[in-house]
Amino acid sequence: MVLLGPPGAGKGTQAVMLAERLNYLHLSTGDILRENVKQGTEIGKKAKSYMDKGELVPDDIVIEMMLDEIKTDAKDRDFILDGFPRTIYQAGKIDAALEKLKLDIDLVIYFKTSLKIVLFRLTGRRLCRECGENYHIVNMPPKKEGVCDKCKSELYRRKDDVEETIKKRLEVFEGQTKELIDYYKGKGVLKEISGDLDAEEVYEKLSVII
Ligand code: AP5
Repeated sequence: MVLLGPPGAGKGTQAVMLAERLNYLHLSTGDILRENVKQGTEIGKKAKSYMDKGELVPDDIVIEMMLDEIKTDAKDRDFILDGFPRTIYQAGKIDAALEKLKLDIDLVIYFKTSLKIVLFRLTGRRLCRECGENYHIVNMPPKKEGVCDKCKSELYRRKDDVEETIKKRLEVFEGQTKELIDYYKGKGVLKEISGDLDAEEVYEKLSVII
């Protein structure tokens, strides 16, 4: 399954819920890239400047990285691609690679989400430094400000969650990723859900589709 939508649409939130409740394998390009940046790997060094500016990391880096993940972990499990593919080029490459592995993308969910909601969500998002748990200062606040409910570690704000970079990420979505909606419509696998609803409502709609 592929989750498609603008930044802040709730792709990551729904992917985590699906992984916890229905045992999907969750592969998030953004999370894997951020982990590479944190570990200071070659991929991380190459990706960092693009991510900080809200631009797409070059296709070849991302494609190779995701194909490695799929080949290693996804052969025998239903999996969710969160934030990948993001260009028609990436989509073509992943289709060809999956065909060789006798795998298929059989569902693509497009989270249609309004601009106002996206800006509100991303400027208020906080994440746990240790376990990665996701919060929102208004919608899903931690019990104690700045502290993770689960592991008690510090919460932080993503570097690309500042207004100027969010705007750039939205431009990139409009200019380079949105055309994937027609690409997957053409393949007959696209379903649309409103990303504006609250997380449990989105999950309910998603469950019905699945
Ligand atoms: P990535 O990490 O994928 O960021 P993104 O697509 O911008 O998506 P986000 O993680 O910001 O949003 P989301 O839709 O997952 O929302 P979330 O659930 O977190 O990518 C980061 C960067 O990596 C890119 O800019 C690029 O540089 C690079 N990159 C990644 N993939 C790439 C690729 N394929 N090719 C090239 N480069 C790539 O929710 C957001 C907030 O809202 C949270 O606080 C959450 O708690 C809250 N929330 C979520 N759902 C709801 C809801 N229904 N109601 C209320 N609040 C909600």
